[in-house]
Amino acid sequence: MNLPEEFDQYEYLSIAPGRVNILGEHIDYNGGSVLPAAIDRYVFLGANKRTDQMIKITALDLKDTITFRINNIEKKIDIHGNPLPDWALYPAGVFWAAKKQNLELSGFEGIFASSIPMGAGLSSSAAVEVAFAALMREFCSWDMDNMELAKMCQYAENQYIGVNCGLMDQFASANGIKNAFLFFNTTNLDWYPVEIPDTISIVITNSKIPRSLATSAYNDRRVSCEQALRKFQNKFPDIQNLCELSLSEFEEVQKSVDDTLQKRSKHVVEECARVNQAIDLLKDNQLNEFGNLMKASHNSLRDLYEVSTPELDDLVSIASGLQGCYGSRLTGAGFGGCIVSLVEKKAVSAFVSALASSYRAKTGKEIETYVCTASDGVTVQWCEKNSSK
Ligand code: GLA
Repeated sequence: MNLPEEFDQYEYLSIAPGRVNILGEHIDYNGGSVLPAAIDRYVFLGANKRTDQMIKITALDLKDTITFRINNIEKKIDIHGNPLPDWALYPAGVFWAAKKQNLELSGFEGIFASSIPMGAGLSSSAAVEVAFAALMREFCSWDMDNMELAKMCQYAENQYIGVNCGLMDQFASANGIKNAFLFFNTTNLDWYPVEIPDTISIVITNSKIPRSLATSAYNDRRVSCEQALRKFQNKFPDIQNLCELSLSEFEEVQKSVDDTLQKRSKHVVEECARVNQAIDLLKDNQLNEFGNLMKASHNSLRDLYEVSTPELDDLVSIASGLQGCYGSRLTGAGFGGCIVSLVEKKAVSAFVSALASSYRAKTGKEIETYVCTASDGVTVQWCEKNSSK
């Protein structure tokens, strides 16, 4: 993306990517391993330090500017005493979380724009959090690695914004690696990159269905997992997470919870097993088998976790039948948003047009498609050319 000229007056540029999740959905808050990648769609944040304790931010895409005081962050109000608009809660939340950790904060003036579609399940909000956190780390020389940075952003999202998300999105935006999926164990936080075979492309398709009630439905799923875990701990007192249950242990205890909790926890236990199996398949370049696990994941999200929509189901079903598509599934929390497909590189352009036309023929609706590459995580640059302005 060519940055608009408004960015020319800022000395610092923080760039944080969005993410796509290839496999392991709704298990990052159940102790499972996940397989996301940072994508080449970004939040761009230009900023200059101020000497006072005021933060002034312009959201270029929304044409909105707010100013607030660092010492008023917990009140979620701007300098006029008005409630912060929703978008401003993300940067403010990050600074609030930093304050809780007794980290130094600096006033600044900044502007940001994004090439990540908003509300499409590609973690535009995590990227905003990570971009602002990395900027402040630079301004105040915090001694903090990217994992701690991601955890601080997650804390902000859980406690300040009220979405009880796991760590996957902030982790991927902070730690992305070019041309790699990230195998991330959310229990011990170990992770490593897995090179993406150069014969495949990541194709993301946006259903453009707004993710309505996503926050409450998401939090609700998380509560169900906690309830199921408490029941299963009667039989297996040592487990801390649903993902610690083997498939056979799950068989033993599943009847101790009601039908809904059974479905939710079955998805979680089986999805964990799928990721562990998938990683070996990927390393052996067994892409058809890997793709079959993506399809199984989608079916489970549709039937057991119940976070799909008819539009996502249609898209996955059409995509799965197209030439060169190894696997396809909804990506992210669900309830609308995007699907991700792994497609043989040489079949990509035919895949993209066939998916759009078949979907249009079936539903009368339009989609958007982004052919993405996996990218590096957040960076902050000092732009010398702007420093004299
Ligand atoms: C959202 C959350 C993540 C994760 C996914 C579902 O993106 O922010 O932590 O739970 O949903 O896998």
